[in-house]
Amino acid sequence: MGFPKDFLWGGATAANQYEGGYLDGGKGLTTLDAITGGSHTVPRRLSYQGPDGEVKFVDRSADLPKGAKGYVDPNQYYPSHVATDFYHHWKEDIALFAEMGFKTFRMSIAWARLFPRGDELEPNEEGVQFYENIFKELRKYNIEPMVTLNHFDMPMYLADEMDGWLDRRVIDYYLNFVRVCFTRYKGLVKLWKTFNEINVLRGWEMLGVKDHSPQTYYQALHHIFVASAKAVQLGHLIDPENMIGMMIAYGTNYPEDCNPETFMKNIQESHIKQFFCDVQCRGYYPNYKLKEFERLGVEIKQDIYDEEVLLEGTVDFIGFSYYSSGVTTTREDAETTDGNQRRQVKNPYLKASDWGWQIDPVGLRIACNELYDRYEIPVFVVENGLGAIDTVEADGSINDDYRIDYLARHIEQLEKAINEDGVPVMGYTPWGCIDLVSAGTGEMRKRYGFIYVDMDDEGKGTLARSRKKSFYWYKKVIETNGEDLSND
Ligand code: BG6
Repeated sequence: MGFPKDFLWGGATAANQYEGGYLDGGKGLTTLDAITGGSHTVPRRLSYQGPDGEVKFVDRSADLPKGAKGYVDPNQYYPSHVATDFYHHWKEDIALFAEMGFKTFRMSIAWARLFPRGDELEPNEEGVQFYENIFKELRKYNIEPMVTLNHFDMPMYLADEMDGWLDRRVIDYYLNFVRVCFTRYKGLVKLWKTFNEINVLRGWEMLGVKDHSPQTYYQALHHIFVASAKAVQLGHLIDPENMIGMMIAYGTNYPEDCNPETFMKNIQESHIKQFFCDVQCRGYYPNYKLKEFERLGVEIKQDIYDEEVLLEGTVDFIGFSYYSSGVTTTREDAETTDGNQRRQVKNPYLKASDWGWQIDPVGLRIACNELYDRYEIPVFVVENGLGAIDTVEADGSINDDYRIDYLARHIEQLEKAINEDGVPVMGYTPWGCIDLVSAGTGEMRKRYGFIYVDMDDEGKGTLARSRKKSFYWYKKVIETNGEDLSND
């Protein structure tokens, strides 16, 4: 019983929410640098300049006019610009991760830090060096870096000038970027993921596209699938030691009742996420998706070698984020609540976080089983955690028992997935191990960290770091390899 000896305990972050230094060291603008803050009730907005010169702030789900370009308004607050400033605090932060005993640390590389516009032939050396220093520092503490090559952001230039992933040339630009990562960080990094949460990529901010039509979406996605498959092949070629995974936002859906109609609908709902794993783990488009394309009138333009590329570029493992589960209903009037990037039907058996995300530890065990049963490759829980408001007491302490309870109950289920169900789980990296900006709402008050960062929703604060109660608890969890989950 217990966790495997080589189980990778750690934590997860992403450049656009953590790194800051948005123009430092020669970095170019990314699409996410033009996304404002927001809150649970006020959506984040995207700022762009239309072809007529007019600057507009629109909902992230809005279509942009032809010729629109991302725009950064100097009078606006954009959370990615400073975020929680890993750029200037990396040594201090890594020392704190090491103090907790991290075996791995998940981070992403800002594409525009290496290739400010995206289409350059040679990288920005200062950017390359920045990450090299970080990887060396992690290795100094025996922390295995786990790199997400692309976590939601893309160089703004590629979105503005080429319509992002809709343009097939972007595959080559991405490959040039990953080639630099695989060669320059060879020997330092072995664990990679090609794209974060491939199933939630949308619109201008993440795909660089200007409209939300199914035709545009699936064409852009096809290019991403091809880019990912080529990256997997390239990564293996450059260093056979590389383990290259996919990454999906995953949570199971429970049928609300035993009506066969609900069950059938649940299969269709499951296909929505399975599609991404089917392509990246099996190497081809599943029939149910091809039928959907026929119904929608979607026609994917493919290169003659694409089918072969997808088949030969399947991933080594499945990384997934897990926060909550969903419910499938056939009722029109079902009550819904918030969830990761999409609303979910309410489950009467579950409680929810302050942001409405339903808490379901057993669902994590179910997710591990579902993924392994279907694809039979190792899985890695690369995100999990509770976004909550923390209170700093007069003595500076932060007693986040709610977070400890959430994580302990999920770790218990993970242990069952490994030991009772036989799922090979490579590791566990809770999200936002140090406080960072929320992707969904742009807030700072929605905190996930073991380490508190003094920063508020308007970007005000000293950025000072401090240890929460969960910091000491997680340190003990790692020390005992998951045996002692008690909170005392
Ligand atoms: C996942 C993302 O969607 O969930 C992260 O990979 C994100 O980037 C995390 O931060 C939690 O979501 P949120 O909206 O609470 O930040």
